[in-house]
Amino acid sequence: MSNELKRGLEGVLVAESDLSHVDGEVGKLVYRGYDIEELARGASYEEVLHLLWHGSLPTRAELEAFSDDLAAERAVDDEVLSTVRTLADASERPMAALRTAVSMLSAYDGESGDVLAEGAAITAKVPTILAAFERARQGEPPVAPDPDLSHAGNFLYMLTGTEPDDVSEETFDMALTLHADHGLNASTFTALVIGSTMADVYSGVTGGIGALSGSLHGGANQDVMEMLREVDDSGKDPAEWAADAREEGRRIPGFGHRVYKVKDPRANILEEKLRDLADASGDRKWLEYTTAIESYLTEEGLVEKGIAPNVDFYSGSVYDAMGIPMDLYTPIFAMSRVGGWVAHVHEYREDNRLIRPRARYTGPETAEFVPLEDR
Ligand code: ACO
Repeated sequence: MSNELKRGLEGVLVAESDLSHVDGEVGKLVYRGYDIEELARGASYEEVLHLLWHGSLPTRAELEAFSDDLAAERAVDDEVLSTVRTLADASERPMAALRTAVSMLSAYDGESGDVLAEGAAITAKVPTILAAFERARQGEPPVAPDPDLSHAGNFLYMLTGTEPDDVSEETFDMALTLHADHGLNASTFTALVIGSTMADVYSGVTGGIGALSGSLHGGANQDVMEMLREVDDSGKDPAEWAADAREEGRRIPGFGHRVYKVKDPRANILEEKLRDLADASGDRKWLEYTTAIESYLTEEGLVEKGIAPNVDFYSGSVYDAMGIPMDLYTPIFAMSRVGGWVAHVHEYREDNRLIRPRARYTGPETAEFVPLEDR
């Protein structure tokens, strides 16, 4: 048995997976062999879920049945919605509210023990929870899900009470596809560890949401938007702001990745989307800021060192252009990635082995026990 310590499990193989592959050297991402760009442009999130969960892109009939089954699971019990309202009133952070509500779902869904059935129920309900939370913050009642709308379209509808236009729905659907899976990232690994104990999927997804909430993982998309606002408030030129931030030793959110050593392909697609949205609205501020920061950091050699824009660098500005509040960006990431978490737990269960690594013990070999009264 190797005693080599790999901090952060960097480069350690712990499972085989057919689901997604990240080639960090050339900046390529595939889901079951399909290039992410083709999927993002040509397939809906529901098609991608079918691909991840059932192994193939669906036929039209399969897609209809799959989408109908998923849509039928969207309604969330009133007790859960009431808790969501309480959390909104208490100014809970959206990721924490989502984590609590998903954990609570199992009490009302009647755990089936079937990974894909539980996974579908959770995946369908996450948008309902999130939209209800945002509506509660606005002092508005929740909007009931519309089973005739797509997963993406229904979320935007429940958020605003108005059916989204085609461009918003397509853009949002594309963002969901781009975030659906990404190898054994920290949140997927968290869900997998929990799944490997034979715990229910609610536990795995709850853990995944917790892992995704951190600023080194999914939380970075909100950090990017905060950075852009900070640049704006500073009145500085974005490149000058980036130079000062580097000088202060700050990390630039949305830059760097454990696996990608070149620009994340998802960032390229979202950058293009942001350009389209900016062209359509005429509001080019965030696009100009992000491209100016990226150009400056490229000139400074950061990208050459392998610290290049990741998916979060552009996703926030895209959501902002769609009028979505900043602190929903990471929950929206969770709303998509739940599909990947479920897929990985399902796949791993086919040949399950409890995940249980070791730590190198660095404490004292022996210590003399002193009873409490003598300490
Ligand atoms: N800005 C400036 N320097 C950076 C950045 C950054 N965003 N990211 C890494 N570096 C530097 C580090 O300071 C370090 O430099 P050093 O060797 O001189 O100390 C070097 O690059 C390596 O950094 P590590 O933290 O060891 O690399 P790791 O693989 O652990 O980092 C991570 C990956 C955590 C994503 C990191 O790049 C980071 O903190 N990025 C900002 C947060 C972010 O965007 N997270 C989203 C990731 S994508 C996702 O989860 C969806």
